Amino acid sequence: MATSKAKQDLDWANLGFKYRPTKARFSAIYRNGAWSEGALVESPMIEVHEGAPALHYAQQCFEGMKAQTAPDGRVLLFRPDLNSERMNRTADRLLMPQVPRELFLRGVEEAVRANYAWVPPHGSGASLYIRPMLIGVGENLGLRPATEYEFRVFVSPVGPYYKSAGMAIISLAVSDFDRAAPAGTGAYKAGANYAGGLLATKKAQELGANEALFLDSAKRLYIDEAGSANIVIAMKGNRFATPKSNAILPSVTRRSIMTLAEQKLGLQIEERPIELRKELADFEEVAACGTAAVLSPVGKLWVDGQWHHFHDKGESVGPVMQKLYDLLVGIQRGELADENGWVHEVTID
Ligand SMILES: Cc1ncc(COP(=O)(O)O)c(C=O)c1O
Repeated sequence: MATSKAKQDLDWANLGFKYRPTKARFSAIYRNGAWSEGALVESPMIEVHEGAPALHYAQQCFEGMKAQTAPDGRVLLFRPDLNSERMNRTADRLLMPQVPRELFLRGVEEAVRANYAWVPPHGSGASLYIRPMLIGVGENLGLRPATEYEFRVFVSPVGPYYKSAGMAIISLAVSDFDRAAPAGTGAYKAGANYAGGLLATKKAQELGANEALFLDSAKRLYIDEAGSANIVIAMKGNRFATPKSNAILPSVTRRSIMTLAEQKLGLQIEERPIELRKELADFEEVAACGTAAVLSPVGKLWVDGQWHHFHDKGESVGPVMQKLYDLLVGIQRGELADENGWVHEVTID
């Protein structure tokens, strides 16, 4: 499919975070123990057998990434190797075949390149969300792994997850539900984790929060993560902490923010179990982070029947999160030097 340099006529600044049809998606099939070469296809529909294990037993997983346009027009991905690695860790956990790194990256790049017209221009505040997915298809009835799989990558131009522009101050509500068992699938990007979280999000939203905050399911003491984002905390004493838990998704964004907090802000970084009620008084700034959330400061938290407020009563963004947001987004958009080699250019021919 030839790439045109023309852009779609979209209201880039007001896209919202939703699916928008684009021209092409990438698809490869695993059959008889081997992956097909893979190719771009036009249809957004997937026809699968009614017995597909992805439909019955949630044998499927996905990734979430973004492409952004740099000031010089280059199209940049952010640390795509880590998404490839994470998809393969999830594939191992769910007894699915790994997607070779080369196939993963080629699929992502081809999907971005073919849909160049939908890659938001620099300065619009929008980005191209990329959704690689791996699903167990083919006919099956008993509880066992699929014999065939599809690796697919589709894209959609999106605005910020929580707000129309810039950093959104959000609120979280501690959930009465558990997201993941200690040795379960919480550390993997399995779709099943998210179906179980929908009710928790609904309950949190009924309380007026944006999302649920999950505590560890064994003791309900330690912070795990939010529904679709990890948590980072600027603590008293120039410390910058994030929960250590084997039930949370290892966020690419969080790993990058921790590095920036140490390298650029000189903070003492800590990855350890964080006991919510015991340590709450030491939290100066809290934020949710992820590909979609970017870095969203948490203004208030619903815990034990009341709201607990953070920096400036949740009325403004705190200085630590503001600096980290500017650094992260600056690197992702190619505005700041990429000292750690995190950005990956997709060549548009
Ligand atoms: C449950 C959960 N935690 C954390 C994250 C953040 O991960 P990443 O920074 O790799 O997008 C996500 C996805 O965005 C998620 O779905």
